[in-house]
Amino acid sequence: MDHFLYRDGTLYAEDVPVADIAAAVGTPFYLYSTATLLRHYRLFEDALAGTEHLVCYAMKAASNQAILKTLAEAGAGMDVVSVGEYLRARAAGVPGGRIVFSGVGKTADEIRTALEGGIRQFNVESEPEMQVLSAVAESTGTSVPITIRVNPDVDAKTHAKISTGKSENKFGIPIARARDVYALAASLPGLEVIGIDVHIGSQLTDLAPFELAFQKVAELTEVLRADGHDIRRLDLGGGLGIPYTRSNEAPPLPLEFGALIKRTVGHLGCEIEIEPGRLIAGNAGIMVSRVIYVKSGEDRDFLILDGAMNDLIRPAMYEAYHDIVPVIEPEPGAEQSPYDIVGPVCESGDTFAKGRLMPKLSAGDLVAFRSAGAYGAVMSSEYNTRPLIPEVLVKDDQFAVIRARPTFDEIINRDTIPEWL
Ligand code: LLP
Repeated sequence: MDHFLYRDGTLYAEDVPVADIAAAVGTPFYLYSTATLLRHYRLFEDALAGTEHLVCYAMKAASNQAILKTLAEAGAGMDVVSVGEYLRARAAGVPGGRIVFSGVGKTADEIRTALEGGIRQFNVESEPEMQVLSAVAESTGTSVPITIRVNPDVDAKTHAKISTGKSENKFGIPIARARDVYALAASLPGLEVIGIDVHIGSQLTDLAPFELAFQKVAELTEVLRADGHDIRRLDLGGGLGIPYTRSNEAPPLPLEFGALIKRTVGHLGCEIEIEPGRLIAGNAGIMVSRVIYVKSGEDRDFLILDGAMNDLIRPAMYEAYHDIVPVIEPEPGAEQSPYDIVGPVCESGDTFAKGRLMPKLSAGDLVAFRSAGAYGAVMSSEYNTRPLIPEVLVKDDQFAVIRARPTFDEIINRDTIPEWL
């Protein structure tokens, strides 16, 4: 459930008409709902109630500081995957003690910054990285809590580009080698081995792969404890999928995910961390765009929007489906026609949908891309020298621009022409 609903024939974000924001901010733009973000965060809190836990929002999904602050004030921790994300979370007021650092290629500089600034734990992904982490921790005179990310060789049955838990993927250490790698970790100075980390992929719409992975983690916990490691924290990653279409999809709910966690690893008495991104931010954001032209092709009509693949790359990159709805609510039973919905960027991949049934639209009409809150703004670029589009946050009847559209001067002045040219 989200808070982007029609009211009196027009789309609202909470208590604000989307058209009013479009008039004030210009299109295209991203629009987030505070109530939806918090609702989704709290679903995970409720799902893990009764278990010692921390919900670490995977901020790669949507990393505007206003979003981070909203979630952090509700009690969330953060999962970061770069020093940039770490610094951004700290700037938003997230305490270091609530930040976990994931990612396959953390550099020594990144590690040092996070160590000096304060960190809850590092999720280590390889032996060489572990050596570097140990050396940096030792040189700063600290001991750093770590988990080791294991690759359980489980098929997450999701899009190949976002599947991470198979042995052919670059993530984690093979679970079969875990005992050796944990033994190495325990022998290195500066590291305090406290747990196990796993994350098998994103947009999972079935609990079965999670169940397999968590069972393997539970077995490994017992084995490692028998080897003498004090395994007391399990980071079970993110990945729970969301409905992108409103009809046929019903991915498992956070409550079911929580029940699965309790069933598979609850008996171990470990503190639980999870790293959901998409489920918190995805349906808490829309992208609003305006029809520039309706163009009649040989055998089809094109809706040419002012938003493009550089603003929302998911359809081009993952063949992702986004529901696209007119901001003015169609009359019940209104005639629909198929459109190819495209942006102005100069490549055919700049296509959001083909043959999508929509009510008749005209130049100037506003449309909203639903479920665009996660992996939308964060993956946008300035391809074709199109400015990064603004982000706006709504709370009840108020809205604020939380990232302004850059001017063309700002963009152009970022380049430097060498004096010898
Ligand atoms: N933890 C780790 C270690 C991750 O790599 C990810 C996502 C998450 C947590 C959060 O997963 P989520 O709950 O959001 O599924 N750009 C792609 C998704 C990439 C996901 C990368 N890792 C997309 O637009 O579908």
